[in-house]
Amino acid sequence: MPLVTSTEMFKKAYEGKYAVGAFNVNNMEIIQGIISAAKQEESPVILQVSAGARKYASHIYLTKLVEAAVEDSGLPIVLHLDHGEDFDICKACIDGGFTSVMIDGSKHPYEENIEMTRRVVEYAHERGVVVEAELGRLAGVEDAVKVNTKDATYTDPDQAVEFVERTRCDSLAIAIGTSHGAYKFKGKPELDFARLEKISNMLPNYPLVLHGASTVIPEFVAECNQYGGKIDGAQGCPEDMLFKAGKYGVCKINIDTDLRLAMTASVRKYLVEHPGDFDPRQYLKPARQAIHDMVAHKMRDVLNSSHRL
Ligand code: G3H
Ligand code: 13P
Ligand code: ZN
Repeated sequence: MPLVTSTEMFKKAYEGKYAVGAFNVNNMEIIQGIISAAKQEESPVILQVSAGARKYASHIYLTKLVEAAVEDSGLPIVLHLDHGEDFDICKACIDGGFTSVMIDGSKHPYEENIEMTRRVVEYAHERGVVVEAELGRLAGVEDAVKVNTKDATYTDPDQAVEFVERTRCDSLAIAIGTSHGAYKFKGKPELDFARLEKISNMLPNYPLVLHGASTVIPEFVAECNQYGGKIDGAQGCPEDMLFKAGKYGVCKINIDTDLRLAMTASVRKYLVEHPGDFDPRQYLKPARQAIHDMVAHKMRDVLNSSHRL
């Protein structure tokens, strides 16, 4: 089974009212942990690569690792560019074997966002690759995209319809209250479900995407801190809200921070408990298992994507 696009995956997810997890990958252990969970859960899965991941591991290593995952697992896997900031990075990923790219023009004025997105869509569609775009701005910090909470604006439903019509993007990331990283909400976590419902009703049969959807599970923050970490005031998106989003046309949910926390908690714990060990395999093995456990939990209890293959 070669890499696939997300077209069929999203169609099934939309009809089944669940979401497919898109997990950020940076190295072999993360890829192996995610894929073994997807296999165990019989779940669709998207592996996504940020500009930072490409810089860290290089395009060729990541694509070859993902090819190995496809061959080894036999699973339908989407390889997706996360937050492509311009045409060039999208083109490099399309030419370099990705089956899906995100062009993130959300920080640009509306018409510019449309222009950038149209250009990528045209190039991608001619080559059988699908495109995610973003409209509205998330609060928080991410690779090459820094947005102040003050500037953050939620997605306008009328604009969303026009944007999809004019760009022909295959899926749309919307802003309804989530944000990137471990510090998502200052007070009570809240998502604008009324807005989500409106957008979803105005774009029937159309896959929506939620970024910044880690829950920042307190147990993992506590474990990091117990073994020498200093993560204060972290707060993520409650899992029941994400589960609910899957009922309103959200077909892709992005998760990175929760994997980082699970992996880091495991490494911290191992090294503190085994001060004499210095073989990376000794601490990366439980770290890979921690990724597996986190992803399996997401698929089962948050995305509702288990046994959907
Ligand atoms: O939304 C961004 C993802 O969490 C990727 O983060 O750019 O640090 O790789 P990164
Ligand atoms: P989190 O930081 O909430 O995991 O979001 C990841 C993301 O949106 C990647 O694009
Ligand atoms: Zn994101």
